[in-house]
Order: sequence, then C-alpha cells, then structure tokens
Amino acid sequence: MLLYVHIPFCDSKCFYCSFGSYVEKHHLKAAYIDSLLKQLDFELKRFEAKKNIESVFIGGGTPSTLEASYYEKFFKKIEPYLQDGAEITVEANPNSAKQEWIANMKNFGVNRISFGVQSFDNKKLKFLGRTHNSKQAINAVETAYRCGFENISIDIIYETALDTEKLLKKDIDTAFFLPINHISAYALTLEENTPFFEKKEVKKDDEHLGYFIADMIKEKFEQYEISNFGDYKSKHNLGYWQHKDYIGVGCSAVGFLKNRRFYVCEDIEEYIKEPLKISVENLSKQDLIIEKIFLGFRSIVGVDIKILDEDMLKRAEILKNENKIQEKNNRLYNKNFFLADELALFLIG
Ligand SMILES: C[S@@+](CC[C@H](N)C(=O)[O-])C[C@H]1O[C@@H](n2cnc3c(N)ncnc32)[C@H](O)[C@@H]1O
Ligand code: SF4
Repeated sequence: MLLYVHIPFCDSKCFYCSFGSYVEKHHLKAAYIDSLLKQLDFELKRFEAKKNIESVFIGGGTPSTLEASYYEKFFKKIEPYLQDGAEITVEANPNSAKQEWIANMKNFGVNRISFGVQSFDNKKLKFLGRTHNSKQAINAVETAYRCGFENISIDIIYETALDTEKLLKKDIDTAFFLPINHISAYALTLEENTPFFEKKEVKKDDEHLGYFIADMIKEKFEQYEISNFGDYKSKHNLGYWQHKDYIGVGCSAVGFLKNRRFYVCEDIEEYIKEPLKISVENLSKQDLIIEKIFLGFRSIVGVDIKILDEDMLKRAEILKNENKIQEKNNRLYNKNFFLADELALFLIG
C-alpha cells in the first residue's frame, strides 16, 4: 500500500501548472496540517493499515514551502505503519529547499527527494514562470547530496517554444553531471485555467523532441514509464502503475482501495473544516481492466493476459504481429511507451 500526501502551498504559480496549490493562503498551514492528520487517522483505519505502507510521497504544490516543524507529528504518526525499507519521497522547489530544511527531512527518515528543476536554462526558467535560476537548481541538488540523500530526482519540462535539440542536450548534460539517479521528463501540457492555456504558441508541437530527450536520458537511465527514467526506479511510481492501493490525504488528493476511488475536496478552507468530506467512485470490473491496460502499457509493468477477454486477445495478436508489443511470462509489454494510449485504445476496442 502507498501513501500520498498533498501540500497545497506554493511561493508563486508557474505559468503552466494546474496542480491544486495556493500562493496566498500560507496563514492556513497549521490548521491544514491539523486537518490532514485527522484525515490520515481516518484513512489508516479505512485501509486497515498495519505495517504495510511501502512508500510515502509528499507532493504538491511545494512541500518545501512548509517549514520542517510542520511535518513532525505526521512522521511520528506514520512510523508504526511503515514497512522496513519504505521509500519516503518529498518534492521540493530549488528556491525554497534550503540546507536546514533538507537536513531536517533526512532526519525525519525521508530517503528520496525530487526537485522541480524544469530546466537549467535561465531564459527557459523565466519563460515557464519559475522563480529559481540554474545555479540555484544545481546548488539544491548538491546540497541534498551533501546532506546524505542517495536518491535524488529532478523534473524536466520539454516541448516549450524555446526548446531545441541544443538546449535539451545542455539540460540533460548538466543533469548527468549532478549526483542524481532519476529524471522525470514531461512534455509541456497546456492545462485549462493556467496562463499558458490560451497561448498555443508557447508549446513547440514536435514529437521528435520527446524521442530525442528520451534517447539521451536512456544513455544513462532506464526508461520505466513514458516520463520516468532511473537507475533507481521509484517504488511509489511503480506502485501506481501496478494498480496497488493508495491512501491520498490532503485537499485534492485521490485514494484508491480495491474497487473504490476516493476524492478529497479541492477547496482548502472547506477541507480544513471538514477533512472527511470525501466523495467515492465505485469502479466496475470493466473499469479496472481498462485502467490496468492503460497503466500497464505506459510502463514496464505490462498487462496480465488473464484479464483480457477473447476479443482483446485477438487484437493483442495483431499488435504482436506488428511487433508493437511482446509477450513474456503471460504478460504483454509495450515496446514504445510514447504509443501507450494508442495501443491501449486499440486493445480495448
Ligand atoms: C506538482 S509539481 C511539484 C514540484 C514542485 N512544486 C516544483 O515545481 O518545484 C510536479 C511536476 O509536474 C510537472 N508539471 C506540472 N505541470 C505541468 C505541465 N502543465 N506540463 C508538463 N509538466 C508539468 C513539473 O515538472 C513539476 O515539477
Ligand atoms: S510547478 Fe510546482 S511550484 Fe510551480 S505552481 Fe506547480 S506545484 Fe507550484
């Protein structure tokens, strides 16, 4: 079982981002954590958690906007539920994650840190609405390494209007110079309700850049999902694609248990008042099969042949004959993650 914790605060809003976060509600931090701990109690019971949480992911928003002391009670509470060797990741922004904060996280038992770097090019960073510069990003990674973090990941965004092969090569060359063992590389998506949404010109629609950046990263790291590459593969990421149960706490978090999905309310004030106001979606057998096919083809997880009906099996044969997927130990594996959705849709029929 996995645990996701949402921290809905950011210092500023990047032009592309639609994740649930607030820049002007930092005064609500203490009340927010109180409610989050109440919801956590409730979820640990609902999920019948014992010592079986294999990974924790504290994401956002920007977890590094929250001073370390706010996390103390949280880590105390989850301690008895963690499996030995559990992966504990925290997301951090290069300008707010200072040495003291990073060292405190390490002391709490966090063993993986993921920085929202996006690029090492100062012009591109400004273009994206980021508040850090290249030097700060490099410093943040090096500081985490000096604090003892062995698992460091960075996020990179590509397919912006400024991207060229030369710029992306420089981004990845710089990344490889740093003590990281994981990169998440995301194609820029123009999300609704963001300043970028109406500006189609900010995105370079060139799918070749995806292959270009992936090939470069693959020289050092294995691609284990469309956007994820690593020497070390995140247990948390893999857990989602393996369709494991996950607890989601914090406003706009999502949880999943067997055949139910839980949606926590998105509004922070409402969440603080009523952290247990959670809506439930019941998933049918067919919904679960479709999800498993989509998630399996996006990643190295693959799809168990046993879940496919006769028609799907026939279409799988077609994909195998076209050399798009391969079968190994009764599972189907996609050979090109960038075609994942297309292949999944074909298989589902
Ligand atoms: C929710 S953010 C958290 C990281 C942290 N707040 C930071 O930005 O430093 C996780 C990652 O999602 C990616 N992301 C968010 N919106 C995106 C978009 N519209 N297109 C592509 N990637 C996006 C960024 O790479 C970002 O680092
Ligand atoms: S990318 Fe990160 S810092 Fe920027 S608005 Fe989104 S969550 Fe906040």
